[in-house]
Amino acid sequence: MIPSVLYAPEPGWVAEADVVVVGSGIAGLVAALRCRPHGRVLLVTKALLDAGSTRWAQGGIAAALAADDTPEEHLADTLVAGVGLCDEDAVRALVTEGPDAVRGLIELGTAFDRAGDGGIALTREGGHHRRRIAHAGGDATGAEISRALRAALKDSGVEVIEHALVLDLLKDADGRAAGITLHVMGEGQPGGVGVVRARAVVLATGGLGQVFSATTNPEVSTGDGVALALRAGAEVTDLEFVQFHPTVLWLGEDATGQQPLISEAVRGEGAHLVDHDGVRFMVGRHELAELAPRDIVAKGIMTRMHETGASCMLLDARHFGAAMWENRFPTILAACRHHGIDPVTEPIPIVPAAHYASGGVRTDLHGRTSVPGLYACGEAACTGVHGANRLASNSLLEGLVFAGRIAQALHDDLGPDPLTPA
Ligand code: SIN
Repeated sequence: MIPSVLYAPEPGWVAEADVVVVGSGIAGLVAALRCRPHGRVLLVTKALLDAGSTRWAQGGIAAALAADDTPEEHLADTLVAGVGLCDEDAVRALVTEGPDAVRGLIELGTAFDRAGDGGIALTREGGHHRRRIAHAGGDATGAEISRALRAALKDSGVEVIEHALVLDLLKDADGRAAGITLHVMGEGQPGGVGVVRARAVVLATGGLGQVFSATTNPEVSTGDGVALALRAGAEVTDLEFVQFHPTVLWLGEDATGQQPLISEAVRGEGAHLVDHDGVRFMVGRHELAELAPRDIVAKGIMTRMHETGASCMLLDARHFGAAMWENRFPTILAACRHHGIDPVTEPIPIVPAAHYASGGVRTDLHGRTSVPGLYACGEAACTGVHGANRLASNSLLEGLVFAGRIAQALHDDLGPDPLTPA
């Protein structure tokens, strides 16, 4: 007997799992891998495994890894960026568990860039008072993390269905999550509308940037998890806190859809924001100038655009020289050149664009939503870590740490019935 369905197409097929994870960015992949020892895990994802935002993440993943850094300092920077609206307990969990979680990624095979002494190379981004951003492939951090996690998934026994659009949550008679309905469009997989019955559902569906005309988010970031949660009666919160990234490549007034990101790490390594007269307009607006928290820089850019009547501002990193551009920022260099801009010889035209949903499905410190049996992590969730404005490079870390916390919670929450043996 199929439990009650909110959206009720006739299912063509039914699958069973202990845990169904929806989404395949860092949060979904980690949740699936970490839950696997506890039972049968099915991961469903709307497009291909690496189609979400994680693989586009450039700058890196923040953690107090340096000898001169501490979780307390990471906590302080996160709280300031969040403008007083972070949940301090959630931030404390993030920053204290973060360094070990990043080391866990390395054990899994993630190749972070190394410094001359062999340690992890760390850079700075907006709002951080220390160098604490680990990166990979120069500016291809998310792609490398996604690669390593997908490789780990192969031998894990986690079952995967790609091209699977989640439709709605199934609930049992007690109002507890009991699975999902989904529509699968891939070849060689169960096709059409189906049902996955599961004892726990983990939403890791990513963000909603595609709601805006110009965004850094890929096509798949359409807020599916938040919509599903709302229809299922789960609490959502802080949806108004959509973060705008200060610097995407300006492609003209009419540019829409996913825009090329110019990582904050470019400013972290010393690039300057200037207007069309060469004036560094962030100097004097904030003590950290170009490295102020993201909301302040985005507003500074928009203000200067209005003051001067310009359609964009400029990011000047010509002083990096060709070798640094090629080694440290190969992805950004290629994207700029593809669009006819050479950052080695000219400033990059930039504007802000929608980037990150700081709000989402409200969770406790272990990813539990207000619907029993429904969990959320990553950008789809609101753990309270980000407050009104996420600190740069805290998002990959949040997905990593809180997906692991869901696996811990499931171990307790699904008892006394043991999970199906792996
Ligand atoms: C960036 O590289 O600037 C993006 C990092 C982030 O969104 O945290």
